[in-house]
Amino acid sequence: MTDNALIIRSVDKFRGKTQVLKAIDLAVAPGERVALLGHNGAGKSTLIKMILGQTSIDGGDISIGGAKPGRTVARAKTAFLPESVNFHPTLTGHEQLTLFASLSVRDLPDIDALLDRVGLAEASNNRIATYSKGMRQRLGLAQVLLGQPTVALLDEPTSGLDPISRQDLYAIIDELAAQGTAVLIASHALTEVEAQTDRIAILRKGIKVADDTLDNLSRGAGLPTRMRILVQDGQADQIAMATGGTRINGASVELYCDAGQKMQELRRIAAMGDVVADIELTPPRLEDLYRHYSTGGQT
Ligand SMILES: Nc1ncnc2c1ncn2[C@@H]1O[C@H](COP(=O)(O)OP(=O)(O)O)[C@@H](O)[C@H]1O
Ligand SMILES: [Mg+2]
Repeated sequence: MTDNALIIRSVDKFRGKTQVLKAIDLAVAPGERVALLGHNGAGKSTLIKMILGQTSIDGGDISIGGAKPGRTVARAKTAFLPESVNFHPTLTGHEQLTLFASLSVRDLPDIDALLDRVGLAEASNNRIATYSKGMRQRLGLAQVLLGQPTVALLDEPTSGLDPISRQDLYAIIDELAAQGTAVLIASHALTEVEAQTDRIAILRKGIKVADDTLDNLSRGAGLPTRMRILVQDGQADQIAMATGGTRINGASVELYCDAGQKMQELRRIAAMGDVVADIELTPPRLEDLYRHYSTGGQT
């Protein structure tokens, strides 16, 4: 475990008498992208604040490349994109980034290239007061990219971004990971992290209820794959009877099967001959998994 960039061990947090995080274990390796998912109030931002040393750890411990949260060494290794980024409104994007770079890194990077990378080239000499929320997020991201951090913490990074900017954001996250940064992304927006992360941890009321790859979570949840069989005209009833599925319309039949039975089921349907025109498979989506794990496995 020593090669993990971020190690969270059995961490507890209390707010008054309420325990808002319970014995959380989580590790992120260099170059790994981990999504931290959970409803509002699940404890995602609190965990991030603990990693940043902004709030006390009431049990367990956290290591950032071997350093304790809040220590100078840990802070130098960590980059953070908060939920809403506040910069100095009278500075331009270029000035803000230059200021930040002069405070935090030894060799001044190419600020123009960085602003271009996050899509702010044209606005770089405008005051931040004129920026939209999405543009401020992008500037925050430029700041994250600047330091080549060991650990990057992004709290709801896509809130306020349009879908295209989200794609840009994930491209930048991929770059961060490719340079070896361990990336932790807290989000309650599920569908977008689906293809974008290596592992998914789910918090439910301060307890970690899942932590694995999407594939393994799918398998563990035992949620079925949906099969939609497109049949030749007038044959839907017959195929519904033969497969035990449900007729959706005159031309298609739907059925669900467990991951372990999928191939067997596919062979059986294919053997029905030309009456089967096509088969579409839809594996369980992250949304289904999230519902499954965040409700305690009752779905
Ligand atoms: N500064 C604070 N003082 C007291 N309670 C807080 C504070 N910040 C968060 N909480 C509580 O801690 C719990 C977790 O909140 P938070 O970490 O913000 O969740 P998330 O980011 O997953 O939405 C919630 O019940 C919230 O009300
Ligand atoms: Mg939050």
